[in-house]
Amino acid sequence: MIKPLRKAVLPVAGLGTRFLPATKAMAKEMLPIVDRPLIQYSVDEARAAGIELFCMVTGRGKTELVEYFDVAYELETTLRERGKREALQALRDSSTAPGTMVTVRQQVPLGLGHAIWCARAFIGEDPFAIMLPDDLVLSEVPCLKQLADAYYETGGNVVAVVEVPRAQTNRYGVLAIGADDGRLVEVKGLVEKPEPAKAPSTLSIIGRYVLMPSVLRHLANLERGAGGEVQLTDAMARMIGEGPFHGLRFEGHRFDCGDKAGFLEAQIAFALKRPDLGPMVRAFLPRYVAS
Ligand code: G1P
Repeated sequence: MIKPLRKAVLPVAGLGTRFLPATKAMAKEMLPIVDRPLIQYSVDEARAAGIELFCMVTGRGKTELVEYFDVAYELETTLRERGKREALQALRDSSTAPGTMVTVRQQVPLGLGHAIWCARAFIGEDPFAIMLPDDLVLSEVPCLKQLADAYYETGGNVVAVVEVPRAQTNRYGVLAIGADDGRLVEVKGLVEKPEPAKAPSTLSIIGRYVLMPSVLRHLANLERGAGGEVQLTDAMARMIGEGPFHGLRFEGHRFDCGDKAGFLEAQIAFALKRPDLGPMVRAFLPRYVAS
């Protein structure tokens, strides 16, 4: 029997050094794309995929992320009194239902694999999703929903993958590929951040995963990999052969919002999609790009 996918882990302990000084006193996951913080996009996408329970893996100086998902009681009251219905709705949509979000602390920054291992009590014996809020996907069907569908279809691990230029394989977890139907790719091997010449392919993982809880067994020894960190990719590589494991070429465009150019591109792409802003942005953009 395929267990339902109801849980998501959001690793949010990273320092966000690439966005200093903006991230000196704020979490990088709170940086807004148009008017919503990155973390909100992840949670909304997860909800659209049937996720009901969340675990944020936070770190020192990240408490505002916990505040963010709380009910802002005083603000709600003020907005209600002033009849600001739209703002009130936006505020309500941003809080999570009671008891559906927990946090654990990653006390030392030992890598993504370690962050996931810190959520082991939350994960228990259930399949779970991982969402890296830096990766934003603009698509018709929310990216995690596409992954969840692929999980129900295959009954095993599924990671979201994109082709990257060979020169960039050293930024990603990269697949060694088996059978490939153009959409689902059988995962035969996984390497974290291989040098271009050594990469088994150019098909790379982006920050959306659906994994079986057995990954925790492979993380438990906390073995260090690339960059001296406990790598999730290494633990996933050890799961190959245990059950189905696929890469999904999802429909949509992925923006790396951990990168300044990617973040700016996402601002424009998301603004253009918004009925309230799109026409305005479309009208002013040419002024800045005209030769
Ligand atoms: C992490 C993972 C890597 C994955 C990437 C996607 O790397 O370790 O396998 O391809 O996220 O964004 P990071 O970007 O944290 O270095």
